[in-house]
Amino acid sequence: MLDTIQKYIDEVAQFKATKLDEIEAFRIKFIGSKGIIKSLFSDFKTLPNDQKKAVGQALNTLKNAATEKVKIAIENLENQIGDEGIYGDLTRPAAPIEIGSRHPISIVKNKIVDIFSRIGFTVSEGPEIEDDWHNFSALNLPEYHPARDMQDTFFIEKNPDMLLRTHTSSVQVRYMDNHKPPIRTISPGRVFRNEDISARAHCIFHQVEGLYIDTDVSFADLKQTLLYFTKELFGKSKIRLRPSFFPFTEPSAEVDIYWGLETETDYRITKGTGWLEIMGCGMVDPNVLKNAGIDPEKYTGYAFGMGIERIAMLLYQIPDIRMFYENDVKFLEQFKAVI
Ligand code: DAH
Repeated sequence: MLDTIQKYIDEVAQFKATKLDEIEAFRIKFIGSKGIIKSLFSDFKTLPNDQKKAVGQALNTLKNAATEKVKIAIENLENQIGDEGIYGDLTRPAAPIEIGSRHPISIVKNKIVDIFSRIGFTVSEGPEIEDDWHNFSALNLPEYHPARDMQDTFFIEKNPDMLLRTHTSSVQVRYMDNHKPPIRTISPGRVFRNEDISARAHCIFHQVEGLYIDTDVSFADLKQTLLYFTKELFGKSKIRLRPSFFPFTEPSAEVDIYWGLETETDYRITKGTGWLEIMGCGMVDPNVLKNAGIDPEKYTGYAFGMGIERIAMLLYQIPDIRMFYENDVKFLEQFKAVI
């Protein structure tokens, strides 16, 4: 141990520093709370008594030398640098705090929430780990219904009744369980599908669900609401509804917006048609109302659902869905200006 200490004493004697951070590194190495000298002192305690005297003296020499060295090095530096001192001009303003940015998914979600809030929709949420009833059966998708295959599902292995929700439509059912009409709510949230990841698909993405239930709600109300929404979000004023199928709505439709054909990108993303599909919708199937304890003779309603990633990709011309989850600062920083 004496040899080791002597080696350190030599090292301390030879140390020369010209910069503050070098001195600080030296200080941490030798006299820091996890430094060499601390650890030598704890080894010292385990030594046989007959060695303690010599080693103790050597250790004290090392400690004093290192402490003195740091003190002198700092004094030298201060003398060299003069009036400004080693820390520079202490009256200068602090370094500015960088402006952060919201994630584009949050930006688009907030925009959607804002647009629907203005016409009286509340925001509701539900669990990401769902049971079969709320994700499928109550939505008119009984066991063995072929339409269950439309959405590849992650099941919880230990309990096949539980799954990661495949859509936010599950929140419709939960909301109707707990609220009486009139109902006007949107439910943003994360959903999961057992799909291969590619530029256009991901196993985790986000949706916003909409639900409106009251007496005398009609398909015309649905269309008008969606037209208002697309005008507000995209600034586009032409939509069309194409007949489609969803088990939970009847009739069902797919909503397209007229994007235009002004640029080459417009041609590419609309495949030369000018039209882009943005969501599914329809009149809530009477069975779904019944399953949630609402009288379908008295009430009608509409529902719609859209993918947030898809809308963000259109709004900000993002070519690959994977970019949302890579957290590349260069990508995220582009959204600094958007609140
Ligand atoms: N749940 C559907 C999906 O994930 C989207 C959807 C379509 C929701 C039609 C609805 C609706 O509420 O009426 O593909």
